[in-house]
Amino acid sequence: MRRSNPRMPNHSRGLTLGIETSCDETSAAVLDRDQSVLSNIVASQDIHRIYEGVVPEIASREHVRLLVPTIRTALDAAQATLDDVEAVCVTAGPGLVGSLLVGVTTTKGLALARGLPFLGVNHLEGHVMSPFLEDASLTPPVLVLVVSGGHTLLVHVPVLDRIEVVGRTRDDAAGEAFDKVAVMLGLGYPGGAALERHAQGGDDRAFDLPRVRLEAESLDFSFSGIKTAVRVLLQRDERARSDRSRDVAASFQSAVIDVLVEKTLLAQQRFQAPAIAVAGGVAANGALRRAFESSCSARRLKLVIPRLSYCGDNAAMIAYAGRLRLDRGERSDLTLDANPGLPLGSLPNRAVRKRGQRN
Ligand code: KG4
Ligand code: ZN
Repeated sequence: MRRSNPRMPNHSRGLTLGIETSCDETSAAVLDRDQSVLSNIVASQDIHRIYEGVVPEIASREHVRLLVPTIRTALDAAQATLDDVEAVCVTAGPGLVGSLLVGVTTTKGLALARGLPFLGVNHLEGHVMSPFLEDASLTPPVLVLVVSGGHTLLVHVPVLDRIEVVGRTRDDAAGEAFDKVAVMLGLGYPGGAALERHAQGGDDRAFDLPRVRLEAESLDFSFSGIKTAVRVLLQRDERARSDRSRDVAASFQSAVIDVLVEKTLLAQQRFQAPAIAVAGGVAANGALRRAFESSCSARRLKLVIPRLSYCGDNAAMIAYAGRLRLDRGERSDLTLDANPGLPLGSLPNRAVRKRGQRN
């Protein structure tokens, strides 16, 4: 059926388009009216590997190159067109400002051209909500550990629209420590997954690396000390650099996991949450998943760790978190800007829909 005015789509399928460009992953996802994921396409920018870190300028240019084709692929995979899209959700921060701007400006252009409502979403809120996307039976209160390359946060979610940060890293993020130790071991960048593979078969008790707990009862983390301890170990011990490097990887991984599990359980007890969830790129780590599984089953706690494609940066979690806010009536307007330091819990959206207003 032809429509008389192409600028007035009928949104008959009520789909949500999600866009994520906060760092070095270009992602677009399409969610159905009931929040089920129809497609979640992630184009990883491998080019940063050779620099052993993300180069912001290159990341922005790659997003410019990749975003529109990624959106097209996500729509095709969902067997949808822009006419079926009812709203667009985009990561507005935190992240690299140039990268974020590509997603935000593309979204604004799309929304303006198509007459669509849109919403700026906090990237970390996407990670926090990813376990709810994974498991529809998960209901608050939940204690969520977010472990990624840029952040390590303990978050209490007492009700779905309230996010309370109760602990955070005071220096390096857990993923950052994985990445830096992986580079020291010659495993390349980003090295979290490579370090996990390298640790397989290694003795995790071979080296006594520090488990930094900070003050008694503190829910904060610190991972810079363990990273330095590994550096010193590698400088002093020739075998640690060669035939015992798998033991170094296993010992490092197990020290980081011990602290993550311990602090998460401490927070869970403090807030009496009956469920724990783990999110973010480091949640892809098999040893971490197993450690949480055994701790939670021993304590009869519900545990949700999303599938790998929802752990790393992805647009499905952004569409999901944004849709929840859209359903509460929130909207962004064209003044929406990228905010590289956007704190979790604040609203990137300047416009809140007034009662009774459409879109
Ligand atoms: O959430 P994410 O994709 O991006 C950020 O928002 O930072 O997380 C990326 C981080 C990187 O530090 C990467 O090395 C780490 O997650 N990572 C892992 C594993 N897979 C990815 N760390 C440990 N074990 C893994 N299997
Ligand atoms: Zn992330």
